[in-house]
Amino acid sequence: VFAEEEAQLLLGAAAGSAEELERLVVARVGGMPLEPLLGWAEFCGLRIVVEPGVFVPRRRTELLAECALEAVRSSVHATAGDAVAAVDLCCGTGAVGAVLQARGGGRVEVHAADLDAAAVANARRNIRPPENVHEGDLYDALPERLRGRVDVLAVNAPYVPTAAIATMPPEARDHEAAMALDGGDDGLDIQRRVVAGASGWLSPRGVLLIETSEEQSPLTAALLREAGLLPEIRRDDDRDATIVIGRTGTTQFL
Ligand SMILES: C[S@@+](CC[C@H](N)C(=O)[O-])C[C@H]1O[C@@H](n2cnc3c(N)ncnc32)[C@H](O)[C@@H]1O
Repeated sequence: VFAEEEAQLLLGAAAGSAEELERLVVARVGGMPLEPLLGWAEFCGLRIVVEPGVFVPRRRTELLAECALEAVRSSVHATAGDAVAAVDLCCGTGAVGAVLQARGGGRVEVHAADLDAAAVANARRNIRPPENVHEGDLYDALPERLRGRVDVLAVNAPYVPTAAIATMPPEARDHEAAMALDGGDDGLDIQRRVVAGASGWLSPRGVLLIETSEEQSPLTAALLREAGLLPEIRRDDDRDATIVIGRTGTTQFL
Protein backbone atom coordinates (compact mmCIF):
# COMPACT_ATOMS: atom_id res chain seq x y z
CA VAL A 1 0.00 0.00 0.00
CA PHE A 2 1.06 3.62 -0.48
CA ALA A 3 2.32 5.63 2.50
CA GLU A 4 -0.82 7.82 2.62
CA GLU A 5 -3.04 4.74 2.60
CA GLU A 6 -0.91 3.09 5.27
CA ALA A 7 -1.21 6.21 7.46
CA GLN A 8 -5.01 6.09 7.06
CA LEU A 9 -5.07 2.40 7.96
CA LEU A 10 -3.01 2.99 11.12
CA LEU A 11 -5.22 5.92 12.09
CA GLY A 12 -8.26 3.67 11.64
CA ALA A 13 -6.69 0.89 13.71
CA ALA A 14 -5.89 3.35 16.53
CA ALA A 15 -9.60 4.30 16.66
CA GLY A 16 -8.98 7.81 17.98
CA SER A 17 -6.52 6.83 20.73
CA ALA A 18 -3.30 8.89 20.52
CA GLU A 19 -1.50 6.36 22.73
CA GLU A 20 -2.50 3.46 20.51
CA LEU A 21 -1.45 5.39 17.39
CA GLU A 22 1.93 6.07 18.99
CA ARG A 23 2.33 2.37 19.80
CA LEU A 24 1.43 1.33 16.23
CA VAL A 25 3.73 3.90 14.58
CA VAL A 26 6.68 2.99 16.84
CA ALA A 27 6.19 -0.71 16.04
CA ARG A 28 5.88 0.01 12.32
CA VAL A 29 9.01 2.19 12.28
CA GLY A 30 10.76 -0.65 14.13
CA GLY A 31 10.05 -2.90 11.13
CA MET A 32 6.89 -4.75 12.20
CA PRO A 33 4.83 -5.65 9.10
CA LEU A 34 1.66 -3.59 8.64
CA GLU A 35 -0.82 -6.48 8.62
CA PRO A 36 -0.32 -7.89 12.15
CA LEU A 37 -0.45 -4.33 13.46
CA LEU A 38 -3.80 -3.79 11.78
CA GLY A 39 -4.85 -7.33 12.66
CA TRP A 40 -5.87 -8.19 9.11
CA ALA A 41 -4.77 -8.49 5.49
CA GLU A 42 -6.79 -8.27 2.32
CA PHE A 43 -6.54 -11.48 0.30
CA CYS A 44 -8.64 -12.27 -2.78
CA GLY A 45 -11.06 -9.58 -1.62
CA LEU A 46 -11.48 -11.16 1.84
CA ARG A 47 -10.37 -9.67 5.15
CA ILE A 48 -8.11 -12.30 6.75
CA VAL A 49 -7.24 -12.11 10.45
CA VAL A 50 -3.44 -11.90 10.85
CA GLU A 51 -1.83 -12.38 14.27
CA PRO A 52 1.74 -11.34 15.17
CA GLY A 53 4.45 -13.84 14.21
CA VAL A 54 2.28 -15.68 11.67
CA PHE A 55 3.24 -15.56 7.97
CA VAL A 56 1.42 -12.65 6.28
CA PRO A 57 -0.47 -13.90 3.20
CA ARG A 58 1.22 -12.53 0.08
CA ARG A 59 -0.39 -11.10 -3.04
CA ARG A 60 1.36 -13.79 -5.13
CA THR A 61 -0.42 -16.54 -3.21
CA GLU A 62 -3.73 -15.32 -4.64
CA LEU A 63 -2.79 -17.32 -7.76
CA LEU A 64 -2.69 -20.51 -5.66
CA ALA A 65 -6.04 -19.64 -4.08
CA GLU A 66 -7.67 -18.80 -7.44
CA CYS A 67 -6.49 -22.02 -9.11
CA ALA A 68 -7.48 -24.09 -6.07
CA LEU A 69 -10.91 -22.46 -6.21
CA GLU A 70 -11.17 -23.37 -9.89
CA ALA A 71 -10.35 -26.98 -8.93
CA VAL A 72 -12.95 -26.95 -6.13
CA ARG A 73 -15.64 -25.65 -8.48
CA SER A 74 -14.76 -28.24 -11.13
CA SER A 75 -14.89 -30.96 -8.52
CA VAL A 76 -18.27 -29.76 -7.24
CA HIS A 77 -19.50 -29.73 -10.84
CA ALA A 78 -18.17 -33.25 -11.50
CA THR A 79 -19.76 -34.85 -8.46
CA ALA A 80 -23.44 -35.30 -7.93
CA GLY A 81 -24.22 -34.23 -4.42
CA ASP A 82 -21.11 -35.53 -2.61
CA ALA A 83 -19.14 -33.14 -0.41
CA VAL A 84 -15.86 -31.98 -1.94
CA ALA A 85 -12.90 -32.07 0.45
CA ALA A 86 -10.24 -29.36 0.20
CA VAL A 87 -7.13 -29.05 2.37
CA ASP A 88 -4.97 -25.96 2.93
CA LEU A 89 -1.73 -27.63 4.07
CA CYS A 90 0.92 -25.42 5.75
CA CYS A 91 -1.96 -22.98 6.20
CA GLY A 92 -0.42 -20.09 8.18
CA THR A 93 -3.37 -17.72 8.69
CA GLY A 94 -5.56 -20.07 6.64
CA ALA A 95 -6.03 -17.44 3.91
CA VAL A 96 -6.16 -19.97 1.05
CA GLY A 97 -8.64 -22.20 2.88
CA ALA A 98 -10.77 -19.17 3.77
CA VAL A 99 -11.09 -18.30 0.07
CA LEU A 100 -12.13 -21.86 -0.79
CA GLN A 101 -14.69 -21.79 2.00
CA ALA A 102 -16.09 -18.36 1.13
CA ARG A 103 -16.25 -18.89 -2.62
CA GLY A 104 -16.39 -22.66 -3.14
CA GLY A 105 -20.11 -23.07 -2.48
CA GLY A 106 -21.92 -24.99 0.23
CA ARG A 107 -20.64 -28.43 -0.72
CA VAL A 108 -16.96 -27.87 0.02
CA GLU A 109 -15.56 -29.13 3.33
CA VAL A 110 -12.37 -27.20 4.07
CA HIS A 111 -9.61 -28.44 6.36
CA ALA A 112 -6.34 -26.69 7.16
CA ALA A 113 -3.18 -27.73 8.99
CA ASP A 114 0.06 -26.25 10.25
CA LEU A 115 2.91 -27.32 12.52
CA ASP A 116 3.07 -23.95 14.28
CA ALA A 117 0.59 -23.59 17.17
CA ALA A 118 0.40 -19.81 16.58
CA ALA A 119 -0.62 -20.35 12.95
CA VAL A 120 -3.22 -22.93 13.97
CA ALA A 121 -4.75 -20.51 16.51
CA ASN A 122 -4.76 -17.77 13.86
CA ALA A 123 -6.32 -19.99 11.15
CA ARG A 124 -9.07 -21.04 13.59
CA ARG A 125 -10.27 -17.42 13.37
CA ASN A 126 -10.47 -17.55 9.58
CA ILE A 127 -11.83 -21.04 8.89
CA ARG A 128 -15.09 -22.56 10.12
CA PRO A 129 -15.56 -24.69 12.07
CA PRO A 130 -12.32 -24.06 13.99
CA GLU A 131 -12.01 -27.81 14.68
CA ASN A 132 -11.23 -28.24 10.96
CA VAL A 133 -7.85 -26.57 11.57
CA HIS A 134 -5.40 -29.22 12.71
CA GLU A 135 -1.98 -28.96 14.35
CA GLY A 136 0.92 -31.20 13.38
CA ASP A 137 3.61 -32.13 10.89
CA LEU A 138 2.17 -32.11 7.33
CA TYR A 139 -0.27 -35.04 6.83
CA ASP A 140 0.14 -36.30 10.43
CA ALA A 141 -2.17 -33.45 11.41
CA LEU A 142 -5.07 -34.56 9.22
CA PRO A 143 -7.94 -36.75 10.38
CA GLU A 144 -7.64 -40.33 9.09
CA ARG A 145 -11.05 -40.12 7.47
CA LEU A 146 -9.61 -37.73 4.85
CA ARG A 147 -7.11 -40.33 3.60
CA GLY A 148 -7.79 -40.97 -0.10
CA ARG A 149 -10.61 -38.40 -0.06
CA VAL A 150 -8.92 -35.03 -0.64
CA ASP A 151 -10.12 -33.53 -3.93
CA VAL A 152 -8.08 -30.33 -3.73
CA LEU A 153 -4.78 -30.12 -1.86
CA ALA A 154 -3.45 -26.54 -1.86
CA VAL A 155 0.00 -26.02 -0.40
CA ASN A 156 2.20 -23.01 0.18
CA ALA A 157 4.97 -24.68 2.18
CA PRO A 158 8.22 -22.83 2.98
CA TYR A 159 10.42 -22.81 -0.13
CA VAL A 160 13.17 -20.25 0.54
CA PRO A 161 16.65 -21.87 0.49
CA THR A 162 18.20 -21.49 3.97
CA ALA A 163 21.07 -19.30 2.71
CA ALA A 164 18.64 -16.90 0.96
CA ILE A 165 16.73 -16.05 4.16
CA ALA A 166 19.43 -13.50 5.08
CA THR A 167 18.61 -11.59 1.87
CA MET A 168 14.87 -11.31 2.63
CA PRO A 169 13.36 -7.99 3.76
CA PRO A 170 13.64 -7.52 7.56
CA GLU A 171 9.83 -7.50 7.80
CA ALA A 172 9.89 -11.19 6.88
CA ARG A 173 13.25 -12.18 8.33
CA ASP A 174 12.73 -10.63 11.75
CA HIS A 175 8.97 -10.87 12.21
CA GLU A 176 7.91 -14.16 10.65
CA ALA A 177 8.85 -17.54 12.12
CA ALA A 178 11.88 -19.24 10.52
CA MET A 179 9.64 -22.29 10.25
CA ALA A 180 7.43 -20.33 7.82
CA LEU A 181 10.27 -19.48 5.45
CA ASP A 182 13.04 -22.07 5.60
CA GLY A 183 12.85 -24.72 2.88
CA GLY A 184 16.27 -26.25 3.60
CA ASP A 185 19.41 -26.25 1.43
CA ASP A 186 17.70 -26.03 -1.97
CA GLY A 187 14.36 -24.75 -0.63
CA LEU A 188 12.58 -27.96 -1.58
CA ASP A 189 12.86 -30.05 1.60
CA ILE A 190 9.22 -29.60 2.66
CA GLN A 191 7.86 -29.72 -0.89
CA ARG A 192 9.59 -33.12 -1.32
CA ARG A 193 7.74 -34.48 1.71
CA VAL A 194 4.45 -32.90 0.65
CA VAL A 195 4.63 -34.41 -2.84
CA ALA A 196 5.82 -37.82 -1.62
CA GLY A 197 2.83 -38.08 0.72
CA ALA A 198 0.18 -36.58 -1.56
CA SER A 199 -1.00 -39.68 -3.41
CA GLY A 200 -2.03 -41.35 -0.15
CA TRP A 201 -4.40 -38.47 0.63
CA LEU A 202 -5.71 -37.42 -2.78
CA SER A 203 -9.01 -38.82 -4.03
CA PRO A 204 -9.01 -40.53 -7.44
CA ARG A 205 -9.99 -37.19 -9.00
CA GLY A 206 -7.71 -35.20 -6.66
CA VAL A 207 -5.51 -32.27 -7.62
CA LEU A 208 -2.37 -31.03 -5.85
CA LEU A 209 -1.53 -27.34 -6.21
CA ILE A 210 1.76 -26.12 -4.83
CA GLU A 211 3.27 -22.63 -4.77
CA THR A 212 6.93 -22.37 -5.69
CA SER A 213 9.34 -19.84 -7.22
CA GLU A 214 9.85 -19.38 -10.96
CA GLU A 215 13.42 -20.73 -10.68
CA GLN A 216 12.40 -23.74 -8.60
CA SER A 217 9.33 -24.60 -10.68
CA PRO A 218 11.03 -27.15 -13.02
CA LEU A 219 12.32 -28.95 -9.90
CA THR A 220 8.92 -28.84 -8.22
CA ALA A 221 7.34 -30.17 -11.42
CA ALA A 222 9.92 -32.99 -11.53
CA LEU A 223 9.01 -33.97 -7.96
CA LEU A 224 5.36 -34.27 -9.00
CA ARG A 225 6.25 -36.30 -12.10
CA GLU A 226 8.35 -38.70 -9.98
CA ALA A 227 5.36 -39.14 -7.69
CA GLY A 228 3.17 -40.15 -10.65
CA LEU A 229 1.29 -36.86 -11.05
CA LEU A 230 0.99 -34.93 -14.32
CA PRO A 231 2.51 -31.50 -13.62
CA GLU A 232 1.58 -28.17 -15.18
CA ILE A 233 3.38 -24.92 -14.31
CA ARG A 234 1.26 -21.76 -14.13
CA ARG A 235 2.92 -18.37 -13.97
CA ASP A 236 1.58 -14.85 -13.35
CA ASP A 237 4.30 -12.25 -14.00
CA ASP A 238 2.22 -9.36 -12.61
CA ARG A 239 2.16 -10.94 -9.17
CA ASP A 240 5.50 -12.77 -9.54
CA ALA A 241 3.54 -15.91 -8.76
CA THR A 242 4.28 -19.48 -9.80
CA ILE A 243 2.41 -22.63 -8.95
CA VAL A 244 2.64 -26.22 -10.10
CA ILE A 245 -0.57 -28.18 -10.48
CA GLY A 246 -0.39 -31.97 -10.30
CA ARG A 247 -3.23 -34.07 -11.56
CA THR A 248 -3.74 -37.75 -11.05
CA GLY A 249 -4.04 -39.78 -14.24
CA THR A 250 -7.81 -39.89 -13.81
CA THR A 251 -8.39 -36.16 -13.22
CA GLN A 252 -10.86 -34.89 -15.80
CA PHE A 253 -10.81 -31.19 -14.99
CA LEU A 254 -8.68 -28.03 -14.80
C1 LIG B 1 5.24 -19.81 3.57
S1 LIG B 1 4.18 -20.03 4.96
C2 LIG B 1 2.61 -20.05 4.09
C3 LIG B 1 1.40 -19.85 4.95
C4 LIG B 1 0.08 -19.81 4.16
N1 LIG B 1 -0.12 -21.03 3.42
C5 LIG B 1 0.05 -18.62 3.21
O1 LIG B 1 0.22 -18.81 2.01
O2 LIG B 1 -0.13 -17.49 3.68
C6 LIG B 1 4.49 -21.72 5.36
C7 LIG B 1 3.71 -22.31 6.52
O3 LIG B 1 4.11 -23.69 6.64
C8 LIG B 1 4.15 -24.04 8.00
N2 LIG B 1 5.00 -25.24 8.14
C9 LIG B 1 6.35 -25.32 8.09
N3 LIG B 1 6.74 -26.60 8.23
C10 LIG B 1 5.61 -27.35 8.37
C11 LIG B 1 5.37 -28.74 8.56
N4 LIG B 1 6.37 -29.63 8.63
N5 LIG B 1 4.08 -29.16 8.69
C12 LIG B 1 3.06 -28.24 8.63
N6 LIG B 1 3.24 -26.92 8.46
C13 LIG B 1 4.50 -26.48 8.33
C14 LIG B 1 4.69 -22.79 8.68
O4 LIG B 1 4.39 -22.79 10.05
C15 LIG B 1 3.99 -21.68 7.88
O5 LIG B 1 2.78 -21.31 8.49
